[in-house]
Amino acid sequence: MPAATPRTPPEPVIDVAALERCLLPPGRAWTLPVDAYTSAGVYALEVEHLFKKQWLCVARVDQVPQAGSYFSVDLLGHKLVIVRDRDGEVRCLSRICMHRASEIVKGAGRKSLLSCPYHEWSYALDGRLVSVPMLDGTEDFDKKTCQLPSYRVEVWGGFIFVNFDRDASPLASQLEKGFSAFHAPYQFDELVIAGDYIEYDSPYNWKILVENFMEAYHHIGTHKDSLLQHFPVEKAYVPDNHNQPWSILAMPHSDEGEWEAVFPAIETLTDWRREGIVASLVAPFNMFAMVSDSLFWYQVLPLAHDRFTLRIHPCVPRSTAKRDDLAAGMEKINAFITALHDEDHQANLDVWTGMTSHDFRQGRLTRHEDSIWQMNQWWCARIMPNVA
Ligand code: FES
Ligand SMILES: [Fe+2]
Repeated sequence: MPAATPRTPPEPVIDVAALERCLLPPGRAWTLPVDAYTSAGVYALEVEHLFKKQWLCVARVDQVPQAGSYFSVDLLGHKLVIVRDRDGEVRCLSRICMHRASEIVKGAGRKSLLSCPYHEWSYALDGRLVSVPMLDGTEDFDKKTCQLPSYRVEVWGGFIFVNFDRDASPLASQLEKGFSAFHAPYQFDELVIAGDYIEYDSPYNWKILVENFMEAYHHIGTHKDSLLQHFPVEKAYVPDNHNQPWSILAMPHSDEGEWEAVFPAIETLTDWRREGIVASLVAPFNMFAMVSDSLFWYQVLPLAHDRFTLRIHPCVPRSTAKRDDLAAGMEKINAFITALHDEDHQANLDVWTGMTSHDFRQGRLTRHEDSIWQMNQWWCARIMPNVA
């Protein structure tokens, strides 16, 4: 039998005329063309030009509370460990041993040294190789050549972000114009993770989730029996994002009825935020949903163009976390979030059915989807810079 000819991966297929329709002003613009969602080649471009160049949220500072606390994260093929070093600095290191590639730590815990279980090579909490057993007879061994690779870390509002690009502009500078001020009343620094995350295996393109998260238009369909009565589409608005890689969807409460929160509202919420909800995105896929008493961090772990894992992490203010009724309250909150996401999950699967059919090329956006428009401008500028 003749040997199989190796196949080269298909080139990304992007229709330039269709992309130009995305770049029309809000109110006239179209969605991204369907290939932006269904092509493995486009996904490869996204990994290279978006995911590995942007800040990706991986944990909260309260998950590494003390010197030596660590927390494992798998992201984009990297096996990482988030660790707080002796000076209190949060670091992101590879957790793969520089000797013969064993995994040094698993899960979460606390250690003064990161010691590999295979042959006991030990690394300091900043990734320096500090001890190697039985080196007698081994020549020309320089510990400095065997340090654990480290990646950039930035903490914003108590969330730990990592970036694989050494030249990326600081996250704080990307968020300072508009985003940080808008979120200040929620006091992100005061939040803590409140219990286990809710996980969804999501067999569809990641942008379908982001787009669903960032518009209230679907309240009239998907959430007509749940969110619509409280958060009508007409009241929702999207502030200018100053061409920065973020978007905000503000959803004030309807003039009728009341929003019954489970826990007392965050004290510094004094305006419409006391009853309203907010969905925020830090591109490409760091998502935060805020209600008056809690926040949900939606973490996307991309796997392929047609699959990702979603983890929804509930967070509450430190003062709420100390309450005796925390567990009972969280059960209610998590049941509410799960019911909502079950509705969204089905909606997203239905969209994927359409996108993978031969019947859809590109859709037309309305003014109720301006966050999608904002993100499409950003996406085109990075994926197709010659067009945007
Ligand atoms: S693989 Fe880690 S010490 Fe050998
Ligand atoms: Fe939704």
